[in-house]
Amino acid sequence: MKGFLGTGATFGADFNLVVQLIMGTALIAGAHLAKQKRYKAHGICQTTVLLLNLLMIGLVMWPSFQQQVKPALSEVFHEWYYEAAAIHAALGIAAELLGLYIVIVAGTNVLPQWLRFQHWKWWMRTELVLWTIVLLTGVGTYCAWYVAPFR
Ligand code: HEM
Repeated sequence: MKGFLGTGATFGADFNLVVQLIMGTALIAGAHLAKQKRYKAHGICQTTVLLLNLLMIGLVMWPSFQQQVKPALSEVFHEWYYEAAAIHAALGIAAELLGLYIVIVAGTNVLPQWLRFQHWKWWMRTELVLWTIVLLTGVGTYCAWYVAPFR
């Protein structure tokens, strides 16, 4: 199905791009909530984005990676648009796993003490920086795949 941004992208890619930019904005707003010491609202906001992103990975990015990138990796890894998507996917998996770990430590008591971190700010800031890098490499992947003159 054709997308709606006029770039030649699929509907899924355009939808994912818009949702990802909104979610990135929500994460920054969520970080401000923590600054204002509104920790409950902060937790709900960041956890919602993290879980919604699992849905976007499962619906759009994982299938697209399996179809478009994985088969090409062995043969044409030197082509940078496959490289960009592969780097994006690897960092994206790391960001999602780190986010899930943070939510489990911050929101539950299921992990034993030795698996729990103490420096909450450090872990959450690191996650926000990593997420931003993943978002930018995702936008880079979109440009490489669908926007002239990158194609
Ligand atoms: C923090 C997590 C992630 C963020 C913020 C993110 C963000 C983005 C953005 C903004 C795009 C451009 C829109 C698009 O082309 O669909 C994109 C595309 C893509 N991402 Fe991610 N992503 C994340 C995780 C992942 C993961 C875990 C994978 C690996 C399976 C992945 C693989 C891809 C692929 C293959 C595309 C191109 C999809 C297409 O255009 O058909 N991403 N991502």
